[in-house]
Amino acid sequence: MSNDSQIVKFFKNQTIFLTGGTGLIGKLLVEKLLRTSFDLKKIYILVRTKHGKTSQQRFDDFFDNSCFEKINQENKSKVSFISGDCRKPDLGLKSENLDILKTETTCIIHAAANVNFRQTIKEASYNVNSTKEMIKLAKEMNNLKVFVYVSTAYSNCVNNHIREEIYKPPINAEAFLDLVNSCNEDDLEKILLPYLNKWPNNYVFSKCLSEDLIKNSLLETPIAVVRPSSVTNTMNEPVPGWIDNYHGFIGVTAGSYVGVLQNLYAKKEKKLHLVPADFVCNCILAAAWDTANSKTIKAFNCVGKGISYGELARAVNTLCWKYPTMKCVWNPETSVVQNKFWYNVKTFWILMLAYCIDFVFFCFKQPTRAANMMKRITEQVNVSSYFTFREWSFDEDRFTNLWKKMGDEDKKIFPFNVSTIDWDKYLCSCVLGIRVYLFKDPITTLPKAKTKFKIMFVLHYTILALFYCLLYVILTFLAKNLWYNYK
Ligand SMILES: NC(=O)c1ccc[n+]([C@@H]2O[C@H](COP(=O)([O-])OP(=O)(O)OC[C@H]3O[C@@H](n4cnc5c(N)ncnc54)[C@H](OP(=O)(O)O)[C@@H]3O)[C@@H](O)[C@H]2O)c1
Repeated sequence: MSNDSQIVKFFKNQTIFLTGGTGLIGKLLVEKLLRTSFDLKKIYILVRTKHGKTSQQRFDDFFDNSCFEKINQENKSKVSFISGDCRKPDLGLKSENLDILKTETTCIIHAAANVNFRQTIKEASYNVNSTKEMIKLAKEMNNLKVFVYVSTAYSNCVNNHIREEIYKPPINAEAFLDLVNSCNEDDLEKILLPYLNKWPNNYVFSKCLSEDLIKNSLLETPIAVVRPSSVTNTMNEPVPGWIDNYHGFIGVTAGSYVGVLQNLYAKKEKKLHLVPADFVCNCILAAAWDTANSKTIKAFNCVGKGISYGELARAVNTLCWKYPTMKCVWNPETSVVQNKFWYNVKTFWILMLAYCIDFVFFCFKQPTRAANMMKRITEQVNVSSYFTFREWSFDEDRFTNLWKKMGDEDKKIFPFNVSTIDWDKYLCSCVLGIRVYLFKDPITTLPKAKTKFKIMFVLHYTILALFYCLLYVILTFLAKNLWYNYK
């Protein structure tokens, strides 16, 4: 790659220890590094045993993912896995691997986290503890140039405006970990209740505490904390629209697309800040380069444009109709509902409809899934409502100055200027990306899907018309009876 890129030069001969390498951001980071930084020495990714597969088996399948199609064998050989688990002491690393990491690592990117909004406080404590273990390890690395922590723009969401600094949490992170180690889970929840009651979920709380640990780490190595907002499909690289998880906006769009998310409980005018996943990765790599020569901890609010839930629902509905998918199970049309009572009524009817569908399937001895799927979606919408009814503003000076600081060649290779995004075009690419990369529904099925969509559309409105007719008949019947009784 280019000789003029300062970032490419920075990664020359570097050995990176990356956690979260098997996740969305991690995979894209590996891909980008292998494609642009040919002189990179090595990437070690931490891989745990999961779903009955060993770390070795998971690593054997790692490069099968479509995002690595542009990477050649020689570059792939620069990646090695290290077996471990962030929930364990010393990250579950064997002593020989610890030694390798201590002597070879020059750059840490700590992106592993349990991102589930419904995790218990005990589970969330592993996100904090793994950061503590990473710091401990970093202190023993003699050649470490930079430590990058991937946090979230919502790590301090109890404030309406988020500055690019590390905030003081309601409880000191070390004290929190001491409590976790000394209490059982029930006591822990009770003791922490006064600290937690303002927080929407334990995930963001764990991110806030992890940042606190980093701030107080006394690590001599420069530290960058990169805080992405809601991460969405790639803008350009390795291909436009690539995605492989269902977090946040992606889950909502996927639910709308297949027709299971009919009602989104949100405030229409509140804005969600979307940022493409490849822009996040480019920002992480640029932040590593920029921070390596700095003496202070630098927090970067890597936030994209705010787009309102009303606008999003309109755009997504239009795109789902334009490019229907074979995976749709109902007419894809999501409305944003702001009133809790009305939302509950609508959700109740849809759940009843799902039970009816299950009953029909049951009669034909087919598997029944609709009601369970509806319940899961409703739960997901409910746990996200804290975010869908609020809006945040962010300081972005450090994030935008990082962009301004980069040379022309770096801007070409590592773009993340969110102000240049054509959002109509990008949202279209997001919907198509969900279709192709998440649903595995190639664009060639579009003609068939359009026929299916028409059937769903007619079915949806026929049932709706029948429902309102039935309601009219029942109400007039009741009214007549009441009137006669009254007379
Ligand atoms: N996606 C977003 O919208 C978003 C927004 C803001 C911030 N972030 C932050 O970005 C980072 C990466 O998120 P992502 O979107 O890439 O999420 P993701 O796709 O769910 O990936 C999470 C990664 O963490 C790893 N991990 C979780 N628990 C682990 C454990 N006990 N031991 C070892 N590895 C573990 C996962 O490994 P397995 O493959 O083994 O599960 C996976 O590689 C996270 O720190 C998250 O907080 C994400």
